[in-house]
Amino acid sequence: MDELRIKRAPRIETEIIVSGDKSISHRAVLIASLANGPCVLRGFSPSTDCTHTVEAMRSLGIKIERPEPEVLIVHGKKRKLSAPNEPINCGNSGTTMRLLAGLLAGQSFKTRLVGDDSLSKRPMRRIVEPLRLMGAQIEAEGEHDTAPLQIEGAALHGIKYTSPVASAQLKSALLFAGLFAKGKTTVLEPVATRNHTELMLNYFLVRTQRDEEGVSVFGDYVPESRDFSIPGDISSAAFWLVAAAAQPGGHLLVREVGLNDTRTGILGVLVRMGAQVREAIEDVEQVEPRGIVEVTGANLKGTVIQGKEVPQLIDELPILAVAGALARGTTMIRQAQELRVKETDRIAAIAHNLRSMGAQVIELTDGLEIHGRAPLHGARLSSFGDHRIAMAFAIAGLFAEGETIIQDVDCVATSYPGFDKMLHEIVNPKGFRTTTPVITSLSPARAEES
Ligand code: S3P
Repeated sequence: MDELRIKRAPRIETEIIVSGDKSISHRAVLIASLANGPCVLRGFSPSTDCTHTVEAMRSLGIKIERPEPEVLIVHGKKRKLSAPNEPINCGNSGTTMRLLAGLLAGQSFKTRLVGDDSLSKRPMRRIVEPLRLMGAQIEAEGEHDTAPLQIEGAALHGIKYTSPVASAQLKSALLFAGLFAKGKTTVLEPVATRNHTELMLNYFLVRTQRDEEGVSVFGDYVPESRDFSIPGDISSAAFWLVAAAAQPGGHLLVREVGLNDTRTGILGVLVRMGAQVREAIEDVEQVEPRGIVEVTGANLKGTVIQGKEVPQLIDELPILAVAGALARGTTMIRQAQELRVKETDRIAAIAHNLRSMGAQVIELTDGLEIHGRAPLHGARLSSFGDHRIAMAFAIAGLFAEGETIIQDVDCVATSYPGFDKMLHEIVNPKGFRTTTPVITSLSPARAEES
């Protein structure tokens, strides 16, 4: 699959399930590898990013069976890891590289972490500096404090670190290092980011703490081996949620999806834009809430996305920008400068592709100003090697006159290997189940926002 061809979609009326959450899957395999026995992980993300984390842990001496693509049996070795034979390849995955760097900083052996061209351009100083404060011996050998990372392995001590960037990867790198550090490691964030690491450490009975001081982990705990079931990835569901929300009369149900409120910012935005969004949490048994989201489409209106909402929908901004182009009025995305250092410069990529389709967009240093409702036309677009850009513009193509071609779409497997199949089913709805509304009451949080 090196290009995707998309035409205008018929009305969306369907029910879907998406694969396991990528962020949660990374953390699950890392923590299970440190546990005091085997852990079965169900609903593991089939993304190539998460497979890089699995391969990394195998190279560090952990036996991981994969009887099915989405089931792992991880044989935790009580925090004992062994030196890999060669550099660990993190591929395109920033989460793999940054979280592993934290985990490896406190081992007794040397490691080298390498990545693909895109990952080798992404900022690593944000983790290198605080890890050094903990006693780590780590070098970012690339030209601009970038990968490869050379990690010597050293005795670490806990610190209290005020992070200058809202980054769950940074926070998690320090928490993983903190597991191997003497004493308590505390991270204060400028704005709250996804909390999967701290929730999962808790679930595996590692002592953590959350208070006005920030989030802390205490060193020396061995995670207790337990099974874990990973909910569907709301960041994958986001593409279909927007596709349905922007079609008056469109109706979509997503089942078994993760509804952790540090990740559901997109739902509030779609409500503000005029879509009907309902959610029902059905299960919180294993610390990560999961449930149903139901969206009914409308003529969307523009909105402003900024401030503390940004980290809660950081990965959804490309598809929300597409929603902005389909909405009447102006959509502003501000304080989202982190988009410039994702898999590509997403602000530039979104502006370029939206303009190629006929939308009016102003590129800002920290975001985008999108004047919606200019009729979109098909175009030949680049993915810029970025999975979320590829998928966001495939959805834009469902609303454009003529054919849209997205080039270089192999990157989609980075997070969502089944995307093209689902797209095909949405465009050719033969045999699709139609749905009737199933959630009859709005959840209180979302009702307040509407
Ligand atoms: C992630 C955190 C976010 C997000 C990325 C996954 C994670 O990155 O964009 O896709 O799993 O911790 P930052 O922490 O760099 O913001």
